[in-house]
Amino acid sequence: MATKHRKIKIGVFDSGVGGLSIANYIEKHLPNVDVRFVNDTKNVPYGDKPIDLVYSFVLPIIKKLEKDGCQVIVLACNTVTTNLIDDLRKVIKVPLVGLEPMVKSAAQQTQSKIVAICATPATLASKRYVWLVDSFAKDVSILEPDCSNWSRMIESSEINHKFIKKQIKEVCDAGADVIVLGCTHYHWIEEEIKIAAEGRALVLQPEQSVARRLTTVIDGLKIS
Ligand code: DGL
Repeated sequence: MATKHRKIKIGVFDSGVGGLSIANYIEKHLPNVDVRFVNDTKNVPYGDKPIDLVYSFVLPIIKKLEKDGCQVIVLACNTVTTNLIDDLRKVIKVPLVGLEPMVKSAAQQTQSKIVAICATPATLASKRYVWLVDSFAKDVSILEPDCSNWSRMIESSEINHKFIKKQIKEVCDAGADVIVLGCTHYHWIEEEIKIAAEGRALVLQPEQSVARRLTTVIDGLKIS
């Protein structure tokens, strides 16, 4: 049982540097946590790989986090969450907190009824993403700019700023007034995206809501 004084051990996982933004946020905003961040530098990026292959990379890493005593594991990866969280929950006993594109929130906040979702090809192809759009954004036009090489660029710190600016300008010109960062790698270029949007679109990413969800899960551990 977790006690008041003992730190809660939280595992945070992503394919690469994206999840680090989430780990940093959790460390900064949640009291009494011991955050262990792990990524998969050998196989990153995941977003353009077959999902069965991604599962074979992810499973041993998550199992190891569980074995090492993590009491909650954050899948700080939209690609893994939207495609694999249900399968992982069948074999991992500790609670898994996932991240997925903020489709519902975007649909609630858009005035123009046009929203841009920036995410990896595997996230956009997932059943979960399709379900989110069908369930919460039926009356919204969804734009999906080609972000297939964004995580690779961010991972290698070789960002084609012109290309990103052009893509953001295009979705804003097409009327999008909300842009969803549906991949944690993109959190590192959030400011750049905001500048490219020139105030025409709200940029959403889930760090705050993940921290809130995690707090609820941790509170559940304390009373169980
Ligand atoms: N950062 C991850 C995500 O949120 C994965 C990016 C990748 O590996 O392609 O989707």
